[in-house]
Amino acid sequence: MAMKLTRAVAGAAVLSLCVLLAGCDGSVLLDTTPSNSSSGVEKAAANNIGLRGFELIDAIKAKLGDAVSCADIVVLAGRDAAAILSRGRITYALKTGRRDGVVSSAAAADATLPQSTFEVSQLKGNFAKKNFTTEELVVLSGAHAVGVSHLSSFKDRLNAATATPIDPSYAAALARDVEALKGQQNTTDPTERFNIRDMDAGFRNASGFDATGVNTTAVGVLDNSFYHATLQNMVLLKSDWVLRTDGEASGSLSDFRDDAAKWEAEFAAAMVKLSNLPAEGTRFEIRKSCRSTN
Ligand code: HEM
Ligand SMILES: *[C@@H]1O[C@H](CO)[C@@H](O)[C@H](O)[C@H]1NC(C)=O
Ligand SMILES: *[C@@H]1O[C@H](CO)[C@@H](O)[C@H](O)[C@H]1NC(C)=O
Ligand SMILES: *[C@@H]1O[C@H](CO)[C@@H](O)[C@H](O)[C@H]1NC(C)=O
Ligand SMILES: *[C@@H]1O[C@H](CO)[C@@H](O)[C@H](O)[C@H]1NC(C)=O
Ligand SMILES: *[C@@H]1O[C@H](CO)[C@@H](O)[C@H](O)[C@H]1NC(C)=O
Repeated sequence: MAMKLTRAVAGAAVLSLCVLLAGCDGSVLLDTTPSNSSSGVEKAAANNIGLRGFELIDAIKAKLGDAVSCADIVVLAGRDAAAILSRGRITYALKTGRRDGVVSSAAAADATLPQSTFEVSQLKGNFAKKNFTTEELVVLSGAHAVGVSHLSSFKDRLNAATATPIDPSYAAALARDVEALKGQQNTTDPTERFNIRDMDAGFRNASGFDATGVNTTAVGVLDNSFYHATLQNMVLLKSDWVLRTDGEASGSLSDFRDDAAKWEAEFAAAMVKLSNLPAEGTRFEIRKSCRSTN
């Protein structure tokens, strides 16, 4: 089960990449293209540091064969990830028939994808370019209830010189945990769980987390707990925290904190919209392998 869930999270993570790049054309799966070395493709972009789950996509493709596009596989994996991770509360139907693109560029991905250090005006602008509203930005950010982030994506929040408001007790607990993770993972850039709900009771206690309305035994579940954490300044990313600084966005934060069913319904609708973003470009195919153009 744990394995299945980890893979499902990866599906959601890969899916998020459809967000604001070239529409849903599977380009993020490419290892190389005829004109780009491995360091030039989209998955090598700095903003795509968190992507994983490519082996799962390969395994699905191996079962489905040449008739099904990698772009369809990505959005369907995201749909199933949302259903599994939400324990069946977030379900939606998708049309298929997407085709795969042939272009993949790290530089373009770094230039278009939202960054964790963005201000709220930048996040709103980035989503608006693809016709996503501020409410949909807030809805989709709730996906950060699950999964992990590298320290490099939130280190600004632990540095007094660059920190955006963060609960001081939470920041102290986080800094201690990150030091421990460096040893456990043997790296200077460890991954930390996004959600304070998923931390052990000692951590939550030390942070002074108010878990009223949060199911603290639902570890790893995709639910509205992101909004409880954000409104207590107990989130990892600056891009999550800054949603508080916009009048419209902050109203949605409390709506979704207080009404789980409303968030689940709007999340499903926004995922459909995301999955239907048209692919840009002029040449398409159905790839034989998701990792390379035909
Ligand atoms: C609003 C703009 C967004 C920004 C700035 C953003 C940024 C990030 C960052 C920095 C990470 C961690 C990468 C790492 O260091 O490993 C991450 C992870 C993740 N994001 Fe987002 N994200 C955004 C929107 C979304 C959306 C729309 C979704 C899906 C609907 C999403 C789903 C996820 C998931 C599931 C992970 C965890 C991946 C894992 O556990 O491997 N994000 N995001
Ligand atoms: C290769 O990368 C460059 C720049 O990073 C990009 O402009 C180009 O479209 C990419 N080519 C292909 C075939 O993916
Ligand atoms: C833009 O988004 C709105 C709200 O979700 C939707 O009703 C509309 O059809 C979208 N327009 C386009 C051109 O996609
Ligand atoms: C930790 O990482 C370093 C450098 O990447 C490596 O040389 C070392 O063998 C690793 N130690 C363990 C215990 O895995
Ligand atoms: C949490 O804090 C309370 C009061 O400070 C303490 O009594 C309790 O033992 C703590 N629980 C854990 C798991 O640390
Ligand atoms: C809380 O989560 C646990 C573990 O996933 C689950 O068994 C339980 O039904 C949930 N409680 C509520 C009230 O949703």
